[in-house]
Amino acid sequence: MTQTVWLNGVYLARSEARISPFDRGFLLGDSVYEVTAVYGGRLIDMERHLDRLQRSLTELRFPVLPDRQELEAMHRRLIADNAVKEGLVYLQVSRGAYGERNFLPPTDDKVRLTCFAFAESKALVDTPASRGGIRAITLPDIRWGRRDIKTTQLLASVLAKGEAKARDAQDAWLVAPDGLVNEGASSNAWIVNRDGDVLTRPLSNDILPGVTRHGLMDLLSAQGRKVVERAFSVDEAYGATEAFQTGAGALVWPVVAIDGRTIGSGQPGSVTRAIQKLYYQAAGVDVARAAPWVLGAA
Ligand code: PDD
Repeated sequence: MTQTVWLNGVYLARSEARISPFDRGFLLGDSVYEVTAVYGGRLIDMERHLDRLQRSLTELRFPVLPDRQELEAMHRRLIADNAVKEGLVYLQVSRGAYGERNFLPPTDDKVRLTCFAFAESKALVDTPASRGGIRAITLPDIRWGRRDIKTTQLLASVLAKGEAKARDAQDAWLVAPDGLVNEGASSNAWIVNRDGDVLTRPLSNDILPGVTRHGLMDLLSAQGRKVVERAFSVDEAYGATEAFQTGAGALVWPVVAIDGRTIGSGQPGSVTRAIQKLYYQAAGVDVARAAPWVLGAA
């Protein structure tokens, strides 16, 4: 089947999509993006992703915003046209192409954004990482100071994931100079401590305000379970009973080792299992069929 993508309002075959090499996203990283998970052919929390996109664009002083209703309809059409039942929609908005390289942004009357999106089928729930957990390493966070904005300047994460792979791990957690964990290279980081508290770093410029993080906090608070929003150190993570990470690209992954040290029993813990179950069920997953390993969790 020909895969359809969306470029500046036009639906076309993947192989037909073209953008200018003068695009500011390419030359200067002057662009932002969103990744929205799809399960059962339905978008998970699209509105929050579009809210965050709007915020990213506004924080970077993009003078015009893409039309919200068009973006919503486009997300739905891409998953339908590409028959995506489980996977992702990727959306990127750059400040456009002007046939030159210029640090100065174009004047407001000249701006023509480049907007590009594609949908992709991908297993999110029934994966080895969701089932068995992953090994993470920690690395100094060398990213810029506005990590709350979802820009495509992802070189630090690219390098971190490469380094994780070289060290026989699947992901990296990025650490501030004071030894406190910021977040994963493309996820939010969480631990469960010996008191049973579920901890994640509070929102600030240091981390991306994860949509999965937000959704999970809502689900937990609806159950009367409180998340403690507090930064934790790498040492605290080593001593945690459980660790996990969240993001639209993989939903909830248990983390069973950090820097080669076993977390808890070295298997995904019961709180993480319960959290996976809660999140999956809210996303419409038939857990008995697609994620039986979470059954038995509280
Ligand atoms: N990344 N922190 C960082 C640095 C991220 O890149 C992401 C998501 C998250 C989690 O945010 P959310 O729950 O809204 O996906 C946190 C996406 C999935 C990516 O870059 O592919």
